[in-house]
Amino acid sequence: MKTAKKMTRIVHYRYAVILIAVIALTSLSLAVPRQLNTKMFPMTGRDKWQQPARVVADLGLKEGSTVADVGCGSGYFTFRLSKAVGEKGKVFATEISDKGLKAVADRAKKNNITNIQTVKSDPTRTKLGRHSVDAATIINVLHHVPKEYRIPLVKDIAEAIKPDGSFYIIEWRVKANIKHDKNRRIPRADLVRLAEGAGLKLDAEFFYLENQVFLRFNKPVKK
Ligand SMILES: C[S@@+](CC[C@H](N)C(=O)[O-])C[C@H]1O[C@@H](n2cnc3c(N)ncnc32)[C@H](O)[C@@H]1O
Repeated sequence: MKTAKKMTRIVHYRYAVILIAVIALTSLSLAVPRQLNTKMFPMTGRDKWQQPARVVADLGLKEGSTVADVGCGSGYFTFRLSKAVGEKGKVFATEISDKGLKAVADRAKKNNITNIQTVKSDPTRTKLGRHSVDAATIINVLHHVPKEYRIPLVKDIAEAIKPDGSFYIIEWRVKANIKHDKNRRIPRADLVRLAEGAGLKLDAEFFYLENQVFLRFNKPVKK
C-alpha cells in the first residue's frame, strides 16, 4: 500500500517537472524570435549600447499607430518601428539623403514590408502633413543639422504631431565615452529648449542609454 502511494507521488512529481519544462520552453521559444530576429535585424556592434528593442518598447507605440522616423538614415530604427506599429500602422521614414531613402525603400521592398513610406525632406521641412503622426522620433540626427536649421526643423516636426502625440529625441550625451561627434554634441538643456520652443512639453526621460540622452515630449491639446 505504502509503495503504491509512493509510486503515485513519484508519477505526480514527474508530471509536474514535465509541465514546468514545457511552460519554460514554450515561453522561451516565444520570446527568442521577438528579441533575436537576426534575419530582419542583423546584430551589430551598435545594438549593445543602443538597446533598440528596449527603446522601441519605450516609445509606447500601438498596433495601427503612425510614426515618423525623422532622419531615418539606412533604417536602423525604421524597420523596428514598422514591426511595432504592425500592418495597419504606418512609418514615415524621412531623410534629406537620397542614399538613405533608397536603402530603406529597397529593404522594405525586398522584405515585402508595406507600412513604410519614405519621404524626401528639406533640411528644415520634413514634408509631413499637419497632425499626420501619433509620434515622431529624431535619433542621432540633430547634431548633424546646422544650428540655424534646428529650430525651424523641430517646429515643423511639432506641427506634424497630432495633439497629445509624442516626440522623442535621442542624442549623444555631451560626456559620452565614445569617439563619435565629440565637437558637435548638443547639451541636454538645449535639446529641451528646442522642443519646448516648438510648443512641446518634456514629460519623461529614460536614463538607461549609456551614451545618449533619451527624452520624451508631449504635444499639449489646445483647449
Ligand atoms: C547618424 S545618421 C542617423 C540615422 C538614424 N536615425 C539612426 O539612428 O541610425 C543621421 C542622419 O540624419 C540625416 N539628416 C541630417 N539632417 C537632416 C534633416 N535636416 N532632416 C532629415 N534628416 C537629416 C542624415 O542624412 C543622416 O542620414
